[in-house]
Amino acid sequence: MTNLGVYEEKIKDFSWEISERELGYKQGDNINIGEYCTDRICRMGKKDKLALIWEGHGGDIKKYTFDDMRMLTNSIARFFKELGLKGGDRICLFMDKIPELYFGFLGILKMGGIAQPLFSAFGSESLLTRLEDAGTRAVMTQKRHLPKVRNIVKDLPGLEFIIVVDDDASKPLREKEISFSMENIEKIDQFDIFPSKAETPSVLHYTSGTTGKPKGAQHVHYSLISQYITAKYVLDLKDDDIYWCTADPGWVTGTSYGIIGPWANGITQCVLDSGFKAESWYKFAEKHKVTVWYSAPTAIRALMKEGIDVVKKHDLSSLRHLCSVGEPLNAEAVIWSEEAFGRPFHDTYWQTETGSIVISNYPDMKVKPGSMGKPFPGIEATVVDLNTHLPIERTGTVGLIALKPGWPAMFRTYWNNEEIYKSKFKNGWYICGDRASIDEDGYYWFVGRDDDVINTGGHLVGPFEIESALLEHEAVAESAVVGKPDPVNMEVVKAFIALKPGFTASKDMNLNIMNFVRKRLSPLAMPQEIEFVDSLPKTRSGKIMRRVLRAKEWGEEIGDTSTLENDEG
Ligand code: PRX
Repeated sequence: MTNLGVYEEKIKDFSWEISERELGYKQGDNINIGEYCTDRICRMGKKDKLALIWEGHGGDIKKYTFDDMRMLTNSIARFFKELGLKGGDRICLFMDKIPELYFGFLGILKMGGIAQPLFSAFGSESLLTRLEDAGTRAVMTQKRHLPKVRNIVKDLPGLEFIIVVDDDASKPLREKEISFSMENIEKIDQFDIFPSKAETPSVLHYTSGTTGKPKGAQHVHYSLISQYITAKYVLDLKDDDIYWCTADPGWVTGTSYGIIGPWANGITQCVLDSGFKAESWYKFAEKHKVTVWYSAPTAIRALMKEGIDVVKKHDLSSLRHLCSVGEPLNAEAVIWSEEAFGRPFHDTYWQTETGSIVISNYPDMKVKPGSMGKPFPGIEATVVDLNTHLPIERTGTVGLIALKPGWPAMFRTYWNNEEIYKSKFKNGWYICGDRASIDEDGYYWFVGRDDDVINTGGHLVGPFEIESALLEHEAVAESAVVGKPDPVNMEVVKAFIALKPGFTASKDMNLNIMNFVRKRLSPLAMPQEIEFVDSLPKTRSGKIMRRVLRAKEWGEEIGDTSTLENDEG
């Protein structure tokens, strides 16, 4: 029996109150995600149950019970408070997937701070943009990432504390830097948890758009109501599950379903802090007897490349439910997973902004390979016309995915950017910015993004951020960045570059520019290919027409460019 049961039945009588009731929450009560994921689970008699099984890249394993996690998150919360950090302060987590990242996140929420997780592979420039915008007061990081913070600290007068979680005193720390050891900290039994209410800000996740700087999607503690029930119904998490979410908490999947959803359900999670390698992933799933696995199409395609023989070398019979998110899950991957693991990957669709799964394939529902499934109960979804933004009645017609605002995990604004936030709503619908169609059975079929944002391996990168970084390179006169098809990562970054007079295109120049972007922004943002050109296609007013370049890469019709030349959009 699955937690959701029959989808058609569930949608009839679903209301978010079901989740509120299960969580023992009533309107007006305090609601603190940190408390719900730790103290409440302990009160339910699961003190000694394992909350986290963590494995490092060297194979070292650490295990924590819910009671360990409750006390360590208290200790971290008190540590922040004693530094003078207060409710509403933005505290950034800039770490690999180590236990301190997970417990730091909940510790921040317990003392009322706003957790701002950032992907640890970000370079200094990516970090600077996001810390500056958020007005971050403290960063929690590791020795290996400290140099990137040191590079920019002079540009961030508001950044008061840089907390180093693995300082071994081998090198002196500098001004503002503080050593912190979770291994040695006193475990605190009692902590006065911040009395957050439903609308108290909780998490700030930065996401990339087509234009301008990345935007901070602002979430609130009430998001728990969606995250708890979607983890229960879509991931089908049950008490004896061992759950593995491969996402990094630098991105929303890693917090909504790598921290909040599963732990609010009192589920044992395992985390592998190492990069992708098919063999080690299978070994990990086998060793820890993973039952529910939440991953991404790029990872699945990479596993497919390694072949079924590698799968068969391992006993993966513990796996009972597989889900995927972040990019279109191609039909072949679903079919392959049935052959390899005896069960399909279930595609789920959502965004940083939605905070929780909004369209999905459910455990009891027939999977149509290649489809994203149907709206989650309680989510009113449709596709709207590209121009009028009115719902499209006819099945099979491509439009924009649109959601009726009001579900608990929906973002409340973009930090410092109410104007762009407002622009996301049309005719009373939140417009996701993705194109899709709905078939006669109500299944959604993803078509593509409606903007120039590049989705590489499930991570969004904004062309504008990369183009801005490129312009800082001494040889670059102008550039345009687009996504180019890739068999594993779906898209990779391609840059078209016109060089300044006196500079010539060469292999060295190519590498030099690639490394320049990798170091400043991240390996994700680094162009995998650079094409040197004499000039770039522009509109009459001089705006670069990315769409023309993109269409070329995808072998699509460019259409009538005279309209594009006038297009200022
Ligand atoms: O374009 C869609 C794609 O990823 C975008 C959201 O990215 P982000 O905010 O980083 O959150 C990623 C994880 C929740 C969407 O606007 N996307 C996400 N899931 C799918 C998808 N595209 C196709 N199929 C999906 N299942």
